[in-house]
Amino acid sequence: MSNTATPNTDSIASLIENQQRGWPLERRFYTDPAIYALELERIITRNWILAGHASQLSDPGDFKVFNVANESAIIVRSKDGSIKAFANVCRHRGSLVCLKAEGNTRKFECPYHGWTYDTDGNLIAARSMPEDFDKKSYALHKVSVETVHGLVFVCFSDSPPSLAGARKDLEEPMAMFDFEHLKVAAQQTYLIDANWKLAVENYQECYHCATAHPEYAVRHTLMLDPKKQSRVQANMLERMQACGLQQIEFDCIDMNATPGEQGYGYSRTALFEGYKTGSEDGQGLAPLLGKLTDYDGGASDFTFGPFSFLLAYSDHVVGYVFTPVDKDHCQCEIYWFVRSDAVEGQDYDVDKLKWLWDVTTIADKKIIANNWKGVQSKYYQPGPFSAMERAESVYIEWIVQELRRED
Ligand code: FES
Ligand SMILES: [Fe+2]
Repeated sequence: MSNTATPNTDSIASLIENQQRGWPLERRFYTDPAIYALELERIITRNWILAGHASQLSDPGDFKVFNVANESAIIVRSKDGSIKAFANVCRHRGSLVCLKAEGNTRKFECPYHGWTYDTDGNLIAARSMPEDFDKKSYALHKVSVETVHGLVFVCFSDSPPSLAGARKDLEEPMAMFDFEHLKVAAQQTYLIDANWKLAVENYQECYHCATAHPEYAVRHTLMLDPKKQSRVQANMLERMQACGLQQIEFDCIDMNATPGEQGYGYSRTALFEGYKTGSEDGQGLAPLLGKLTDYDGGASDFTFGPFSFLLAYSDHVVGYVFTPVDKDHCQCEIYWFVRSDAVEGQDYDVDKLKWLWDVTTIADKKIIANNWKGVQSKYYQPGPFSAMERAESVYIEWIVQELRRED
């Protein structure tokens, strides 16, 4: 139940207008159903969201279902070899058509009255319909889908933002890890009892890392103050150049992309000395990725829009996708990617691969849920951000800006 301690008399417009710049959000941004409805329209269905990797749909008929808030899409490798996506909503009376999370099929049969669609979304069978019933008019609705260097993105809008800038500018930093030739070694859904923004905000800051994540904090230097960080950063850059790799600088979070473009970001930070990758013992976890010939002691962060984040180590990539389930619940979908030719049990061990981000995400689930409980109290008042929460503050500003946008 959301909190209604204060009568909700102010209009949403004045709430949005009065949100103080550079401060955390007011309670109603998290609890008010009218704000959530606006987010569905202006943020959640307007942006690209990472839905997996092309390698998960390698053969014609391979499909996976992708759920976000009220929407569900079937993503499928069609007969012509392209990846397509359709609304998982029957054109008869609206039942979900595909109830399986993934698989391979030649057709999708609605479990309600049996209307049947092919992998191009065409309606191919519907029992006992009148003679003049035109099946061609009842194909599944198309959902926008695009692949960027092997990553599959879905957007529940017919006029999605362009991914051209992300594709071009991230080509070189992504080529370092050969994103095209990764495979999903493991995938896990973490359900979080909180409004979705609290989960993303938590991911945006490492002010909490020293207190909440001892496992993360001894490996990653992001929780250091900027002076100490630049010292270890310099060592990593030296090692990186010794491996023949270039550093490309972007703003960490570039949410204010060119109008009509999906925002994106890239940055690279050092791991602590003694850690080759995000492993428990500091040792390698899987075969080196892409062009790498050695561990260079760094990790690259990639951001695609407001929901999708990737962290690339020298030997594996972790993808985090935060999406709302409803106003009061969200989920974090985590993908662990390795080289496509790596063999489980021989080249990598799934439990070891997952260890760091499994323990870290379980700890995050708790702190985010505690945050959600407190934020609903009538005593909650936004407090000042620390210098280590800059990215979160930028993210919040972007949310408020999008809620104001009326186009
Ligand atoms: S709702 Fe799908 S066949 Fe009736
Ligand atoms: Fe965390």
